[in-house]
Amino acid sequence: MVTAIRAEEATSSALQLLILGAGAGGGSPQWNCGCTVCQQVRDGVTAPRTQASVAVSVDGTRWSLIDCAPEILTQLQNVPELAPAQLRHSPIEAVVLTGGDIDHIAGLLSLREGTPFELLATGELHQTLSANSVFDVLRPDVVRRTRVESGTPFTLPGGLQATTFAVPGKAPLYQPNEAENIGAEGDTTIGVELRHAGKRLYYIPGCAHLSEALAARIRGADVVLFDGTLWRDDELIAAGLSHKSGARMGHISMSGPDGSMAALADLGIKRRIYIHINNSNPALLEQSPERHMLEEAGWEVGFDGMRVTL
Ligand code: MLT
Ligand code: MN
Ligand code: ZN
Repeated sequence: MVTAIRAEEATSSALQLLILGAGAGGGSPQWNCGCTVCQQVRDGVTAPRTQASVAVSVDGTRWSLIDCAPEILTQLQNVPELAPAQLRHSPIEAVVLTGGDIDHIAGLLSLREGTPFELLATGELHQTLSANSVFDVLRPDVVRRTRVESGTPFTLPGGLQATTFAVPGKAPLYQPNEAENIGAEGDTTIGVELRHAGKRLYYIPGCAHLSEALAARIRGADVVLFDGTLWRDDELIAAGLSHKSGARMGHISMSGPDGSMAALADLGIKRRIYIHINNSNPALLEQSPERHMLEEAGWEVGFDGMRVTL
């Protein structure tokens, strides 16, 4: 009898993912942007989105963040599970990084008040942090920096199995080499695979194109959260917002023959959710034809506060 109850308890835990922020760099509304989406957010017509970050757990008690957006403090404020359980405490025991851009790392500076956690990243992403001494505010005796190797599984707090893997991407915007090797797979742009109780979930907030290796990896997944930066490649140029194409930014578009909707259509993925959605993207507008097309194709648009349970 006791054994039976234990077995049931062991299988009753679920992989929980909370979207803390679903926006791309800048969020929506972006501080200096008067585009249609940003104005609609200011007018209360479209939901705001802070910059991309998620929290994951298998026991609902011990949590890990994947990326740490500049808005982390307000993101945490909105989630009761992530509040301290004692005078000095945080349920967040680890942070995994998928990139070195500001939207992935700036929130780390707000987690500096002396509560320990483990910071897991590739060697190159750790180097990026080490090269910016402001991150030394996360004292090494408090925040343990652990190097993860792409393709080598590791265990997050609570027993969640994770593996990072290389994704076609780009160096951070502020680095001198940012225009080089766009679309290369290396240690700079990372995806995270989470496995629990036979289920597989992927977090891929930045991706330049779907390589064969990446397609093979995510085939048959239960959930994929995927780069939803742009609807179309020339969207920022057409809107007069920037001179950069999506390709130049290292972001695949949603639409078109080479877009993510087409690339992920036949991979047998049970649930596909866009994340890291830029404010220029018309799919953020709930009544837009682009949103309709995306939903017809079986996709969901991630939002701040969205919960995924597996
Ligand atoms: C990106 O995803 O391309 C970056 O977040 C750009 C930025 O840092 O503004
Ligand atoms: Mn970004
Ligand atoms: Zn805007």
